[in-house]
Amino acid sequence: MDEFKTGLPADRQRTGAVKTPAVCSSNTQEKMYRRYLILRGDIVDCNEEDGQKTARYSENKPQGKTMKTLVTWSSKTGNTKSVGEAIGAVCPPETTLCPIEEAPAGGGEYDFLIIGYWVDKGVPDAKCKEYLKKIRGKKIAFFGTLGAYPDSDHARECMRKAEDMARDNEVCGHFLCQGKIDPELLEMMAKMPNNPHPMTKERKARIEEAKKHPNEDDFNAARQYFESVFDKMKHQG
Ligand SMILES: Cc1cc2nc3c(=O)[nH]c(=O)nc-3n(C[C@H](O)[C@H](O)[C@H](O)COP(=O)(O)O)c2cc1C
Repeated sequence: MDEFKTGLPADRQRTGAVKTPAVCSSNTQEKMYRRYLILRGDIVDCNEEDGQKTARYSENKPQGKTMKTLVTWSSKTGNTKSVGEAIGAVCPPETTLCPIEEAPAGGGEYDFLIIGYWVDKGVPDAKCKEYLKKIRGKKIAFFGTLGAYPDSDHARECMRKAEDMARDNEVCGHFLCQGKIDPELLEMMAKMPNNPHPMTKERKARIEEAKKHPNEDDFNAARQYFESVFDKMKHQG
């Protein structure tokens, strides 16, 4: 817990405790978290002078009820998990982060579910699909990783299918990035006598590119994307 002294006039001064989420393991993440609080309207600004951390609280927004948020993911080889953890750094402080196996059925008491999947044969993976079956009437957003380019028709089709699986909910956002493909799968496919995905120059380049993802640029893009999702929600009230 960091104690902040407010910069408001004496009669409106108050000290507040700002809880830094557990996922903020670096200074950069902590700075991003503060930026998020500013964006959300909890604090107006935040300085560090003479070793003294100072925050000015918004007069319009006393620390009210925050949206209970869950970030959960299905991840076989870790790509989607790492994107979920990056997103966690810009979520409200009380946000729960967990693998989908540990997420409450039906989304429990969470108001906003941020759900991660990996693409398996053109659709969100089976665990995510199963989890979505019991989710109704929630605000949700998706994030996902796949071997294909995120701006490809294949990716757009995967997004459409995911959103279709969640049609009884309000889908507030969807973020995709590439993720390295399990080398065992590639090896197995290469050995298949009737490989449905024969190796072409274009496919080889895509697989090579996927090997570099998700990377810091993807994590930053995911954080920025979800900052804007939260910002939009804040303005919608
Ligand atoms: C069995 C299998 C099927 C896959 N099918 C697709 C697919 O249809 N389209 C695609 O773009 N990527 C596909 N991929 C690649 C994964 O979606 C990608 O590597 C993802 O980042 C894995 O996420 P994870 O590390 O969180 O498990 C597949 C990977 C595996 C292992």
